[in-house]
Amino acid sequence: MAPVPASTRPVPEAEHDVVVVGAGPAGLSAARHLARAGVDVVVLEARDRVGGRTWTDVVEGATLEIGGQWISPDQTELLALLDELGKETYSRYREGDSVHVGPDGTRTRYRGSAFPVEQKTAAEMERLTALLDELAAEVGAREPWAHPRARELDTVSFHHWLRGQSPDEEACATIGMFIAGAMLTKPAHAFSALQAVLMAASAGSFSNLTDECFILDKRVVGGMQSVSEALAAELDGRVHLSTPVRTVRRTSADGTGDGVVVESDRLTVRARRVVVAVPPPLFSRLTFDPPLPRRQHQMHQHLSMGLVIKVHAVYPTPFWREDGLSGTCFSTVGPVQEVYDNTLHGDERGTLVGFVADERADELFALPAGERRRRVLECIAGYLGERALEPDVYYESDWGSEEWTRGAYAASFDLGGLSRYGADQRAPVGPVHWACSDLAAEGYQHVDGALRSGRAAAGDVLAALGEARAAEAVRADAAARG
Ligand code: FDA
Repeated sequence: MAPVPASTRPVPEAEHDVVVVGAGPAGLSAARHLARAGVDVVVLEARDRVGGRTWTDVVEGATLEIGGQWISPDQTELLALLDELGKETYSRYREGDSVHVGPDGTRTRYRGSAFPVEQKTAAEMERLTALLDELAAEVGAREPWAHPRARELDTVSFHHWLRGQSPDEEACATIGMFIAGAMLTKPAHAFSALQAVLMAASAGSFSNLTDECFILDKRVVGGMQSVSEALAAELDGRVHLSTPVRTVRRTSADGTGDGVVVESDRLTVRARRVVVAVPPPLFSRLTFDPPLPRRQHQMHQHLSMGLVIKVHAVYPTPFWREDGLSGTCFSTVGPVQEVYDNTLHGDERGTLVGFVADERADELFALPAGERRRRVLECIAGYLGERALEPDVYYESDWGSEEWTRGAYAASFDLGGLSRYGADQRAPVGPVHWACSDLAAEGYQHVDGALRSGRAAAGDVLAALGEARAAEAVRADAAARG
């Protein structure tokens, strides 16, 4: 008999209480909380691995964190999970001098987190930092859209807002870089001051974002992806890999008898609830039947991914340490605006990681690979010396090319989007719930936020299932009494 082509083979069907789409930290966190509450849950993941934007891989013999890796002291959801899983952390190397390259190309060694800039620029940076700290504390991460000044702050770009506060261009460019290049990975003219304030508030304060010893404090021994792998192992056979979900059908669209049929290439799952745990710009890759409401259709078009190239260079030794350098380097001119010592725990070799964000990434991606590598390494050599030019291993993380991510680090609203739509971004649509670091409050755009948003979605699902079960029990009771 001739083999049946894969596309016409019947797809197996299964029935569970809840189906989670996406086995990144958010989806796995949701599934874990549901499973622990005794809910029958299954996770469908498009890739052939778990972890999503966390991915620890071996490239030419070097173990690299291709995606998310750092933990800060305020990320208590992630830290508590690491504790529970028995995972250890280690500190980023930070002994010695940092290097700053100014707009005129001047290279300066310095200590501490304050950049070696002219005194008047330093004073302006301090003033802007205090202003942003104040706003972050006042606006908060949970409901920035509800603040009385939300609309005012959301209708001006962060670039223009900064220039409205200070005439010092270098101060504005540097303060802008901490959010634009280093976090949202979009040009500062492409998102609002309110979005910048949310980013700062979600990390505890703007000052925390400027302090690399805080925001890039620790790493996980064994890699950040191992956290997702441990969560998936706990779920014991309930995570289906290489199973891209295509369609989410509601079995009762009028909202009365909520349920879903989630169709993927390899499995169709009938469930009472679904948690969609993919980056928001990928929501529109799913066909919803019936379509999502107008509000979601509109809102989802205002959320887009940033773009950053995470560059890894591995050397026979961490040579910069011999010169008393920490490996930490900054410049507002780039192309590599930030560099850090990223040496793997217990490795004799030295690893540097650098970041090329937003329009600088566009420029580099327009070049042939060899030329791109040359530009990147020359820039790093400008900070740390000629030995940077010849790494044993060189690798660029290119998340913009990944079908199931399409950018990095995460998604944010365009100008005006946060105040207009933010209040609805996490609201379930009937049996459809949402979870992702890009919808989080604390830990926004980070693994910590992904875990929190997974936990929150699980809580909402449990509440909904509890209500539905109670309603069923009442109905059954009524039927039994006649
Ligand atoms: P995530 O994107 O991780 O997972 C979503 C999952 O859904 C993916 O596995 C995807 O394959 C799957 N999926 C998509 N569509 C699907 C479909 N149709 N069907 C089935 N599955 C589907 N964070 C941090 O805390 N510290 C850091 O240092 C960094 N640094 C960093 C660097 C780089 C280069 C990147 C790209 C990201 C970071 N981050 C980070 C961010 C961090 O990695 C990110 O916030 C979390 O991984 C987000 O987790 P989620 O589960 O929300 O989404």
